[in-house]
Amino acid sequence: MRLLTAQARVAGIAGWPVRHSRSPRIHGHWLARYGLDGAYIPLPIAPEAFVPAMRGLLAAGFAGANVTVPHKQAAFALADRLDHTARRAGAVNTLVFRHGHIEGSNTDVFGFLAGLADAGADPAAGPALILGAGGAARAASVALLDQGVPVTVTNRTEARATALAAELPGLRVLDWARRSEALADTALLVNATTLGMGGHGDPGLDFSRAARDLAVADLVYVPLETTLLAAARAHGLRCIDGLGMLLHQARPGFHAWFGVDPEVDAALRDLILADLAGA
Ligand SMILES: NC(=O)c1ccc[n+]([C@@H]2O[C@H](COP(=O)([O-])OP(=O)(O)OC[C@H]3O[C@@H](n4cnc5c(N)ncnc54)[C@H](OP(=O)(O)O)[C@@H]3O)[C@@H](O)[C@H]2O)c1
Repeated sequence: MRLLTAQARVAGIAGWPVRHSRSPRIHGHWLARYGLDGAYIPLPIAPEAFVPAMRGLLAAGFAGANVTVPHKQAAFALADRLDHTARRAGAVNTLVFRHGHIEGSNTDVFGFLAGLADAGADPAAGPALILGAGGAARAASVALLDQGVPVTVTNRTEARATALAAELPGLRVLDWARRSEALADTALLVNATTLGMGGHGDPGLDFSRAARDLAVADLVYVPLETTLLAAARAHGLRCIDGLGMLLHQARPGFHAWFGVDPEVDAALRDLILADLAGA
């Protein structure tokens, strides 16, 4: 066991609940691997306690915190400074406490692109179609639009997709009923809905007319092999599961708090895969 000194850097993840989060394992793995004088802990914080709790962590000398459901908008409002990704994504999942200030960023944008790169997928290969209009869809849209990729979103509740497009110039909206026909002209499909999570539901796509070089990314990571990915694989399409994004989104925070840009290595993948298998 590593022993902390009085100079230890401390960060954590604020959520309500926070039990399901893999972040303590991810950061704990890296702290041990790099032998750092630091700790990363779960911070179960109820919504009404979020702002005083964050101010308390800042006052107590914490390096910062990750933020998950339901605090991402509150973190956005709380931050003294927001980086480009946080402003574009409209939500904050990483807070860095620096010189008495709270800096907010959204590392899902970085994690999404790094996950694609890990899988050998080129986001700029052609037009992208994103299923969903929630937080994950917005992060993926921002990532791809900022790479100059033509992006279309389609969502069960079209009004949410239209509202997203109003905030992200260049984003196009497609009728949910037409999602399968659009695959013929799509290079990258991203499932950013909760369909498939925990083995429940499926986006119901027909891949028979999909472009042969279509890449299919599913952001759902429990299970890793969703029915969507299984169907895409059966059509010989390239598949990207949600694990890469989950692991890579943790890197910028770790770097800011502990001073090392950590590697997403096989040992980390195995650790989190074993954890997900028990989920
Ligand atoms: N791999 C990663 O690192 C990573 C990171 C972030 C998120 N995720 C995953 O991404 C998924 C979305 O997360 P989120 O935070 O964006 O969730 P969210 O904000 O709650 O959005 C949920 C989306 O799913 C759609 N949806 C839910 N039930 C549906 C149904 N029965 N039929 C059609 N659409 C349905 C919603 O459509 P409506 O608007 O019509 O309700 C909405 O677009 C989750 O599974 C999450 O675990 C993964």
